[in-house]
Amino acid sequence: MSDAVKVGFVPFSTAARGSLVVFCDETLKFGAATRKALGAAAATVRRAAEVSHFKGKLAATLDIVAPDGIKAERLLVIGAGKPAALKDKDFFRLGGVAAGKVLSGAAATIVAELPSGAMTAAQAAAVGAGVRLRAYRFDRYKTKKKDDDAPRRTDVAVAAGDVAAARKAFAPQSHVADGVMLARELVNEPPNVLYPVAFARRASQLRKLGVTVEVLDVKAMTRLGMGALLGVGQGSAQPSRVVIMKWNGGKRGEQPVAFVGKGVCFDTGGISIKSAGGMEEMKGDMGGAACVVGLMHALAARKARVNAIGAIGLVENMPDGNAQRPGDIVTSMSGQTIEIINTDAEGRLVLADVLWYVATKFKPKFMVDLATLTGAIMVALGTEYAGMFSNDDQLAERLTAAGQATGEKVWRMPLGPEYDKLIDSRFADMKNTGGRHGGSITAAQFLQRFVDDTPWAHLDVAGTAMGAPKTDINQSWGSGYGVRLLDQLVADHYEAGR
Ligand code: BES
Ligand code: MN
Ligand code: ZN
Repeated sequence: MSDAVKVGFVPFSTAARGSLVVFCDETLKFGAATRKALGAAAATVRRAAEVSHFKGKLAATLDIVAPDGIKAERLLVIGAGKPAALKDKDFFRLGGVAAGKVLSGAAATIVAELPSGAMTAAQAAAVGAGVRLRAYRFDRYKTKKKDDDAPRRTDVAVAAGDVAAARKAFAPQSHVADGVMLARELVNEPPNVLYPVAFARRASQLRKLGVTVEVLDVKAMTRLGMGALLGVGQGSAQPSRVVIMKWNGGKRGEQPVAFVGKGVCFDTGGISIKSAGGMEEMKGDMGGAACVVGLMHALAARKARVNAIGAIGLVENMPDGNAQRPGDIVTSMSGQTIEIINTDAEGRLVLADVLWYVATKFKPKFMVDLATLTGAIMVALGTEYAGMFSNDDQLAERLTAAGQATGEKVWRMPLGPEYDKLIDSRFADMKNTGGRHGGSITAAQFLQRFVDDTPWAHLDVAGTAMGAPKTDINQSWGSGYGVRLLDQLVADHYEAGR
């Protein structure tokens, strides 16, 4: 994975190397340790702020190269806006803004102080994690590096009030960041590299962290009767897989929480083939599964005190002589039959069997599934919010709150029996599309038929998992959306002794 940056923590008194990064508020005030670090450069800052109309607004920057009166090769002043109003996610963002400017150098020191005093350990840790998230880049397949490219690695020292406490708070945050970057990596990988078996192999590497990983092959899935999932994969030369990951960090025997991901490693649409324009983006149709693997990494690496199941359905949706046809009727593991109307509505078929398997085998406290399920969710919500559908108000509220806290936002959409009629079939128990209107809703309504009575939420991440605009903490096409959201959900409500 990307090691473009190394983050460490030092006391305020340590002399800065390379770039010096400091924070001010909207009155351009600095804290005491910051003033000390600035020394005679304080006057330079005042002049530069005036000239460039820098007002200290949140995430605004004042960038002074080779500043007078100080050793640092570069001085970066970042606005913290109104510091009293800052939330956790804002500290990630401040770290991201800093990294965006200083990664072109070999070293930087970020003074984790606000005008009112040292940032808390958690805040300083969030700055450090934001730096790491911003630094991630996917350049494995670029063989020619330009001369003016950034150095291979930047050493970032976060100067903190309580160094030991900041380090302690950073460790879990950094593990979560690793999970986010793992998810990004999986989404970014090309589909000739990351086909179902290869994806299962990557997921199996979680064993190193103490995760139990079970891989179901086609024979095992056939025995289980997973006809919906297998029908999608049957047109591909690449065999399908289901991967079940278990992290047992909670009390022995305690009911687990469960996360389910759509892992369509490439979605051509099948016989209902997609048009050529932009089809390459369908390598990211496994963004839900990537998030689940990244989340399991995060939970295991930070030794979360929870029992968690991660389950992903891995297929490639291809058209060939053996491919599924419109008109085919398949029997899902639940026994319910499905008439295939459009082979491009494949994600719900994959999830149908994995959801049923998890619901009936593990009886989890809840299931959250993530899927790049419908283009329609982008029409409805754009790339800012994932669509959320749920049969459980408490779970929905908790997800909404976790979304606000992390900035990985969700917007609740409706379910209801009125929509259910749209997926009734003339020939089978249901059909796999519900027509043009409310396409994201009928897809969710379809999934609901496979969750039994388990509290459940479905996140349609087609607009957020890939191709979303760059942010201060993400410059990558694959965003890793959902890892921080669900880690927060677990930490806030499902961990023993927190
Ligand atoms: N993977 C796509 C949805 C998608 C589209 C994700 C664009 C990300 C970007 C999904 O399998 C699909 O093809 N959905 C169809 C459903 C339709 C055939 C009912 C869609 O959204 O058009
Ligand atoms: Mn499709
Ligand atoms: Zn798809």
